[in-house]
Amino acid sequence: MKIIKKINEMQTMALGFRRQGKSVGFVPTMGALHAGHLSLIRRARTDNDIVVVSIFINPAQFGRGEDYKRYPRKLRQDYQLCKKAGVDFIFCPSPSSMYTQDYQTYVEVVRLSGPLCGRFRPGHFRGVATVVAKLFHIVEPTIAYFGLKDAQQALVVDRMMQDLNFPVRIKVLPIAREKDLLAMSSRNAYLNARQRKEAAILPEALLLAYKLVKQGERNASVVIRKMRGLIRRAKDAKVQYISIVDAKKLKQQKKIKGRILVALAVWFGKTRLIDNMLLSA
Ligand code: PAJ
Repeated sequence: MKIIKKINEMQTMALGFRRQGKSVGFVPTMGALHAGHLSLIRRARTDNDIVVVSIFINPAQFGRGEDYKRYPRKLRQDYQLCKKAGVDFIFCPSPSSMYTQDYQTYVEVVRLSGPLCGRFRPGHFRGVATVVAKLFHIVEPTIAYFGLKDAQQALVVDRMMQDLNFPVRIKVLPIAREKDLLAMSSRNAYLNARQRKEAAILPEALLLAYKLVKQGERNASVVIRKMRGLIRRAKDAKVQYISIVDAKKLKQQKKIKGRILVALAVWFGKTRLIDNMLLSA
């Protein structure tokens, strides 16, 4: 496994793989890798000749007052995990090389960036789309792997790719969960013991939605109200949003019909957790 820090070195490698007709599987990450990331890496490993993982905590996707500075940095551990998973290259550029002093170009996926997390994190998906576009140009992957954990992000990236004609295929893989079904996340490390225990209420709320819809409930606000009621039992939890939207355009649904996404963001102290579930009614 080789660690590449320089953008031009990564580009030279990418050019070489293209010339040799090798397929490149790419997993963009911000590091502090866990089993969720590893499920994407494993899939990239089975599908491709070459596997590239990027580790870059992207300042452009963090808002003012968000956790850019305290975001977990675990490079050494990440290297070991990648090596064990059979990764060929880790690409970890410096922030100043990705965003030079005179940097001024951004990619915006206008409509899909608006609802859900976009409402509460203005500029977040612009930062994500921008960095993913840059990484795609540098790594030139054949297939890029994303997690359903960030369902809106996967849709934003997919739209960006189609709109800007990136010759990349995207695969979106299921959410990896802990034993108590809490979605794995680098941010779970922020939780204290009590918050960690309480956080299992999030997948429980999603399962409640699933049951209600299975039992025939079609009124979105009834489902949301019951989910809120359940989450209220956790003392440290503060709901930022619970939304039921259609799974393609992320438009708010009053009536539950077809393929929908139930998505939520909940604060536990200073830690914001997200989770979601796709449902068909
Ligand atoms: P990060 O949060 O590190 O996640 C990297 C990838 O892992 C994303 O595609 C995310 O959806 C996926 N992932 C995270 N937790 C997961 C889980 N529990 N199960 C399955 N997949 C999971 O998402 C980002 O980084 C950044 O926004 C990035 C795309 C790298 C751009 O900066």
